[in-house]
Amino acid sequence: MRTDALLSRFGYCSRREVAQWLKRGRVIRNGVPVKSPNEKVEPEDVLIDGEPVEFPHGLYVALNKPLGCTCSHKEEGELVYDLLPEQWLRRNPAVNTVGRLDKETSGLLLLTDDGAFEHAQTSPKRHVPKVYAFTTECPVPPEAVAQFASGEFMLQGERTPCLPAELELTGDCEGRLTLHEGRYHQVRRMLAAVGAPVLTLQRIEIGPLKLADLHLEPGEWVAIDPAIFAR
Ligand code: URA
Repeated sequence: MRTDALLSRFGYCSRREVAQWLKRGRVIRNGVPVKSPNEKVEPEDVLIDGEPVEFPHGLYVALNKPLGCTCSHKEEGELVYDLLPEQWLRRNPAVNTVGRLDKETSGLLLLTDDGAFEHAQTSPKRHVPKVYAFTTECPVPPEAVAQFASGEFMLQGERTPCLPAELELTGDCEGRLTLHEGRYHQVRRMLAAVGAPVLTLQRIEIGPLKLADLHLEPGEWVAIDPAIFAR
């Protein structure tokens, strides 16, 4: 790849700034400064400001999303992207969330610049299980366990029933719900429909990835190996 393409692909600088970067000797290949923007380089062979290229084969991270921030590039208020290093936000292709969590939902959120990975994870055909821990304002009726598992549970305004979902009650007003699809506000709508509006909601698992194993404080992220999602 051309040196100017590499620097802009991985968010170091704009193509306009490349000449300046090279003049200052910030890009070194095999111990020798790269001089020309059109010089071809492999990401593995260069150091930029003395460091290897960050995530040269795609960026995949798990974030512990805090409450109150939005999974959007353009809305007002705090955004999940504000929690990431600025350089990541200049990568092209852009870094995006894999699906979304509501502003008032916390927990496990994946981000990537790999469109194919994002698509595969969110594809309705894949049914990647996602586990949510919730508390509710009122007790959840025990019958909800069978209703949610039936594959016949209809949400208002939807044309097809929800896929079977596993509800585990750990107290009158708390539990876990495992979904195999991702409809708009699905957990909140399912629990509200059985008379138990959600008080707090946290995503604790996506497929094989468990938030508890990652030891992330709210707002912290860690790089993950996308191969764990391969089947
Ligand atoms: N279901 C919801 O209601 N909200 C989320 O953020 C995720 C699933």
